[in-house]
Amino acid sequence: MKTRADLSINFCGIKFENPFCLSSSPVSNHAEMCARAFDAGWGGIVYKTLGLEKSFRVVMPSPRLSVLNYMDKRFVGLQNAEQITDRPIKDNIRDIAWLKKNYPNKVLISSIMGYTDEDWIELAKMSEDAGADMLELNFSCPQMAHPSAGHRTGQDFHAVATFTEVVKKATKLPVMAKMTPNITDMLPVALAAKDGGADAISAINTIKAITDIDINSFTPLPNIHGHSSATGFSGPSVKPVALRFVSDLYNSKPLQLPISGVGGIETWIDALQFLLLGATNLQVTTGILRYGYRIVEDMIEGLSDYMIERNIKSLDEIIGKAAQKLTDPSNFETRYQVVSVIDEEKCIGCGQCFISCHDGANQAIKFDPAKRKATVDEERCVGCLLCKHVCPVWDCVSYKEVDTQLVKHAAIF
Ligand SMILES: Cc1cc2nc3c(=O)[nH]c(=O)nc-3n(C[C@H](O)[C@H](O)[C@H](O)COP(=O)(O)O)c2cc1C
Repeated sequence: MKTRADLSINFCGIKFENPFCLSSSPVSNHAEMCARAFDAGWGGIVYKTLGLEKSFRVVMPSPRLSVLNYMDKRFVGLQNAEQITDRPIKDNIRDIAWLKKNYPNKVLISSIMGYTDEDWIELAKMSEDAGADMLELNFSCPQMAHPSAGHRTGQDFHAVATFTEVVKKATKLPVMAKMTPNITDMLPVALAAKDGGADAISAINTIKAITDIDINSFTPLPNIHGHSSATGFSGPSVKPVALRFVSDLYNSKPLQLPISGVGGIETWIDALQFLLLGATNLQVTTGILRYGYRIVEDMIEGLSDYMIERNIKSLDEIIGKAAQKLTDPSNFETRYQVVSVIDEEKCIGCGQCFISCHDGANQAIKFDPAKRKATVDEERCVGCLLCKHVCPVWDCVSYKEVDTQLVKHAAIF
């Protein structure tokens, strides 16, 4: 059998055999599904958010999904209009208890959403009694039909602090607060959760968005009986935003709480990037909706091989390593400049770099239509690397550093 690196993490005092968890969503809807996910290799599960039907009865809209396709690439993003679970609380609690009994070494995180202090307390206690290892407080669903729930709560610092505190007093379990990205600055909300006693922060929930519009009926999608709404967007397209928020949280000196990273993780490289920007624990939904639970096998193998090749003994050695390199743009070293280098052998003469540089940059690529070869005019090149990014040939365009004496700070006109 292949040697595996130690992927275990300690998150809020709980040992996970690997950092990979299902995030709260239809992928963690009931016991049978969660059991299959554990069998596939996931280290933990954040169960689909529980609510109390006596306080608010969830009725899901239908259809409730729409996808963002781009050219021939399908499913680059997913929009959903789903709320928290619509299953009875007693069924979900029974399922959580069954899962903990049958998978005692796997981690089960109960995601809860209350509308009053009493709701939060009841849900926390029920989860603890059922054997959950940890709680995630859902302050972030962007399409709850209840007027004071979801991301509306998550934008209200006072509510976040109060509800977190209420839950902390009601249970001994570690508590993680799940943040909404539908806000300019997540830090004040995360700090409010910390004030309330949160042990960790998870980010992000879905981003309010509109993915598609039917141009014949003039209806945005999903078309729910003639209407739609800006609702939660997830998947590969949100990864850059999720990474930004995770690094904001990690780099915050006053926060200093462990982070669970969520948003667009599909591959081991995505996962690694979240770790490098400061996440300790990782959660996935859309990648599973698209490809199934089995993606965890590739994540485990890829991350393990990466660690073995670099002699990394523990994930703790790499968590946050890239976050340390983020700085305010005002601190950039502007005496540093590069110019593009085109590999003549690899250039296929398509002219894409010429077109993009000519119309979108600094007219620094020369193109000989007879020879079908592109060359760089180093005098004009400002090193934006648009040519590298549009070139269809992997590794054809690289760059080199310019002598700092020659640095041009602005384009030549
Ligand atoms: C269909 C769907 C339902 C979701 N339901 C919940 C939920 O009940 N509770 C919750 O905290 N997040 C919910 N989420 C958000 C996910 O847990 C996750 O934060 C988000 O989708 C980003 O991760 P991803 O890009 O891996 O999907 C849901 C997401 C989707 C796509």
